[in-house]
Amino acid sequence: MSESITITDNRTGESIEVPIENGAVDAGAWKKFLPGTWFLDPAFGTTASTESAITFLDGGNGVLEYRGYPIDQLAEKSSHLEVAYLLLNGELPNESELSAWNDEITHHTYLHENYRRHVHDAFHYDAHPMGLLTSSVAGLSTFYPESKDIEDPENRMHQIVRLIAKMPTIAASAYRFSKGLPFVFPRNDLDYASNFLSMMFSIAEDDYVPDPALRRAMEILFILHADHEQNCSTTAARVVGSAHADPYVSVAAACAALYGPRHGGANEAVLRMLAEIGSYENVPAYMERVKSGEERLMGFGHRVYKNYDPRARIIKDAAHDVFKVTGQNPLLDIALKLEEVALADPYFIDRKLYPNVDFYSGLIYQSMGFPVEMFTVLFAIPRTVGWLAHWQEMLEMESRIARPRQVYTGVASRDYTPIGDR
Ligand code: CMC
Repeated sequence: MSESITITDNRTGESIEVPIENGAVDAGAWKKFLPGTWFLDPAFGTTASTESAITFLDGGNGVLEYRGYPIDQLAEKSSHLEVAYLLLNGELPNESELSAWNDEITHHTYLHENYRRHVHDAFHYDAHPMGLLTSSVAGLSTFYPESKDIEDPENRMHQIVRLIAKMPTIAASAYRFSKGLPFVFPRNDLDYASNFLSMMFSIAEDDYVPDPALRRAMEILFILHADHEQNCSTTAARVVGSAHADPYVSVAAACAALYGPRHGGANEAVLRMLAEIGSYENVPAYMERVKSGEERLMGFGHRVYKNYDPRARIIKDAAHDVFKVTGQNPLLDIALKLEEVALADPYFIDRKLYPNVDFYSGLIYQSMGFPVEMFTVLFAIPRTVGWLAHWQEMLEMESRIARPRQVYTGVASRDYTPIGDR
């Protein structure tokens, strides 16, 4: 059997044979054979926008790997910064590489004072932290004009370090600002997750150290969210980056995409949904509304996973460790019941709808003390690594500016009508 497809143009009877390589067919062959005939694929349902060596995802079998390492092994054994190194460099660091990398990130966590004071003060007191984060990241571009030199790999890596290091600082300061609390400076004696928790929650404590179980849960959540190949926000970062925009505005574009409730905003939507359902007994009635199309079951379904999202399974386990410290989240019962009902219902079975990463993460965040408005921000911090790994990979490839075609369905050419004749 030949690993190829044959395309026949029935208008002319001409055919071409195109090889199937790595599960894909080169669109270049189509373009050459049928110039001007576009492949109509809204939402990129069947389009691979790039080759990539970063993350492997097999949605049918529920497999997720970073650089070949299974996500459950990384979640169990690794740290977020080690995973960041892996995603960016392709290999796990040795001891001295990891120590130098941790040190570098730790020493770039501070924000320029002008930036910290003025950027945040420009916002209304109840600004959504995700709006604040998105604008703040774009604003960083003006502080680092040298970032525009995207051709120099060393300069690129310098900006990558800055962004990974500063995201938790910006995120925590957005939260403190929204609460009217004083800003907590980053601490160099704490690891990445602990430092973030310290900037978020410490009040008048010089020696704040988070509970080890909560610190570990934060680390696991960071690892699970670090990358997810060509999702909506990563695609946004790549598309903007393909115009050779600097990394700060490319990441700001990704933040904007992540803000949407169909993407990173879903964990916030899950909590609102659970609160609206209110109690265990209301689950069946809510499910009927979902099935009639009145509602969507937030935290369920995925464009790629047609099986249980492996991240959801790990998060569900991590939730129990968190609840041992914080006490059980009262919404957990509703979530478990929703899952049980959904997994047994033909509507969800037929459509292959399973819990995704957002279904249980919000419950952990809420129990740890994060307000719902911070949930998408908690996704953006680790995903910055993935966005930048893809941005870097794209620039290392021979990439062209992203510019899809369209199929025009508007009116045919006509003459301008003077205003009095309309
Ligand atoms: N609840 C009820 N029905 C659903 C759901 C849901 N959550 N998701 C999909 N469906 C139905 C949908 O109505 C459609 O049914 P039909 O064929 O009868 O019209 C079918 O399943 C296929 O759905 P789709 O909208 O074509 O699927 P998609 O691949 O375009 O959308 C999705 C994927 C994630 C946007 C969607 O499943 C959804 O809106 N889920 C809820 C939001 C959510 O949890 N998002 C987080 C995604 S994971 C984290 C991330 O990537 O940021």
